Amino acid sequence: MELCLQELKKELAEEIIGHSIHYYQETGSTNDEAFRLGMEGAPEGTVVVANSQSAGKGRLQRSWFSPPSSNIYTSVILRPECNPADAPRITIMAGLAAAQTIETCCPRKARIKWPNDILLDGKKVCGILAQMQSNDDKIDFVILGIGINVNIAADEFPPEIRNIATSIAAQSGGYHSRQDLLITLYKNLSKWYKALTSNGFEMIREEWLKMASLIGCETQVKFGNEIIKGKALGIDERGALVISDSKGKVLKILAGDASIVKEN
Ligand code: BTN
Repeated sequence: MELCLQELKKELAEEIIGHSIHYYQETGSTNDEAFRLGMEGAPEGTVVVANSQSAGKGRLQRSWFSPPSSNIYTSVILRPECNPADAPRITIMAGLAAAQTIETCCPRKARIKWPNDILLDGKKVCGILAQMQSNDDKIDFVILGIGINVNIAADEFPPEIRNIATSIAAQSGGYHSRQDLLITLYKNLSKWYKALTSNGFEMIREEWLKMASLIGCETQVKFGNEIIKGKALGIDERGALVISDSKGKVLKILAGDASIVKEN
């Protein structure tokens, strides 16, 4: 079913996130579009939604499979008054909001793999690409690009990601309204973003940890050619992954691709 822009606008008119919606039947990447709008001065909480993307972008220069009419592709513009070093907190907040949204329509537990992949039954159902524009020590804006695989069937994924990707429909055995999910997503993002800006990171960190997948496990994190291995202990007050290596040295990692080597 198509998204109904009029209903989205009615439902989200009062929300911090989603009060202004730019909808595209198809665009290259909603992140690129949101970035352009951010540079033009679009207000905080403006969102871009597309029915499909011809050049969907993933983290670490990967692409994001974005076929029409089955999934969610959206990017949110935020203008937090904080230091660029605190930006990872915002992506942690977004992961929590997205995971809670996915759980509302899926009997399976959603897990968050640091920094912000959402997994169902060990496979990726949602990814988040955060991009930032900053001047000196101040963030101008952050773009949170969120892709959720909603109604795509397991055999519709390209062969190279078929064993690592999944969708809500594939896990729950039924169709789900993208419209309802999108409204829930923006409401959850509004709630947690307000909590972050008014009360700080601690409560978000606690809620995130309840849904986290790596904690207590032997984990490896790849960043470029570097691989760091150790036991994942949690995340710190900035959203960095805290790892204890084989010598007991505690390391804090701000970016990378994490995977479990051995369950706890
Ligand atoms: C990841 O690699 O896990 C991040 C994937 C992010 C995909 C979303 S879809 C909407 C937005 N637009 C993009 O081009 N990418 C993000």
